[in-house]
Amino acid sequence: MRRKTKLIHGGISGDPHTGAVSVPIYQVSTYKQEGVGGHKGYEYSRTGNPTRHALEQLIKDLEEGYAGFAFGSGMAAITAVMMLLNSGDHVILTDDVYGGTYRVMTKVLNRLGIESTFVDTSDLTNIEKNMKPNTKAIYIETPTNPLLKITDIQETAELAKKHGLLTIVDNTFSTPYWQTPIALGADIVVHSATKYLGGHSDVVAGLVVVNSEQLAKDLHFIQNSTGAILGPHDSWLLMRGMKTLGIRMEEHEQNTRKIVEFLVNHPAVKKVYYPGLETHPNHEIAKKQARGFGGMVSFDVGSAEKADRLLNSVKYFTLAESLGAVESLISLPAKMTHASIPKERREELGITDGLVRISVGLEDVEDLIEDLTQALNG
Ligand SMILES: Cc1ncc(COP(=O)(O)O)c(C=O)c1O
Repeated sequence: MRRKTKLIHGGISGDPHTGAVSVPIYQVSTYKQEGVGGHKGYEYSRTGNPTRHALEQLIKDLEEGYAGFAFGSGMAAITAVMMLLNSGDHVILTDDVYGGTYRVMTKVLNRLGIESTFVDTSDLTNIEKNMKPNTKAIYIETPTNPLLKITDIQETAELAKKHGLLTIVDNTFSTPYWQTPIALGADIVVHSATKYLGGHSDVVAGLVVVNSEQLAKDLHFIQNSTGAILGPHDSWLLMRGMKTLGIRMEEHEQNTRKIVEFLVNHPAVKKVYYPGLETHPNHEIAKKQARGFGGMVSFDVGSAEKADRLLNSVKYFTLAESLGAVESLISLPAKMTHASIPKERREELGITDGLVRISVGLEDVEDLIEDLTQALNG
């Protein structure tokens, strides 16, 4: 099955009981048992729910893994994956990971004895140099948020295997439509499904796919024990959004290419970050491991004042956190998504006060370019 077909026919389609083409919303907490233990596969909806199960099967198929799991948010998904580790374990993470990931590692999981080190994983030697006897996992985000750095998934996974470590990839930016990390050797893929997978700014959700029976057992145990599951209605909404992921991603890509070309040639723009640019330091790796470069672009306008002016002047780019939706969004990482990272650390990473991030939506690209033109010239 090709990817666009899999989006429609992957997982579980329809309802065998009624012939309904759409998976029903099983808004139910518990299930009648014919005698103790005599259930039809479902006992209690924290443990398993048919609508959530259909979504979990779909993401498993799309990511080419062994099993999928749906959580109440991307952060709940990431936290559940980290619960696979034990107190005393150490994780190496990409240095410009999503601010919430940095926060949960350094303010919550550290208190439970899970140590983390943040390095520029786009250079593998940084990973190797920071390995310790208690290192258990490498967690990468690629492309990163907001600097669009690229880490070689296959080489990272090979290095991890050599040292007996798990490779975990946050695939939120690329989605399985463009990039399938498990096929490249990763063990676990995580998503903020709130973004492209949902695609319509109407659901907060997280998904995980694992590549083995053992990891599936362990993660289901954690999902059921800690309970941060996605509800049936949100599971259904997410599946509804995912059916159009292919056409949306293709269109995001087309619009983004045109906007990147415009930004690169604009005198008020100091620097453009986009993995599809041949000048991007990891362009060749991006081309090798992904089928598309995505709809996220960051650019530096030089100062906080100029960035503020731009953000206040645009009319089709909605000033908002989040990304990956049908509507174009614009944000200032230093003051918004990455505000939880201390200023000195942000500057070390290159997340300057003049760095603007856009998530290119599905409006007519000519309108988007006209909008940016007036806002940058204003
Ligand atoms: C790359 C990435 N990972 C994880 C998350 C967290 O996901 P959620 O907001 O659904 O909890 C986000 C949210 O912005 C993100 O951008």
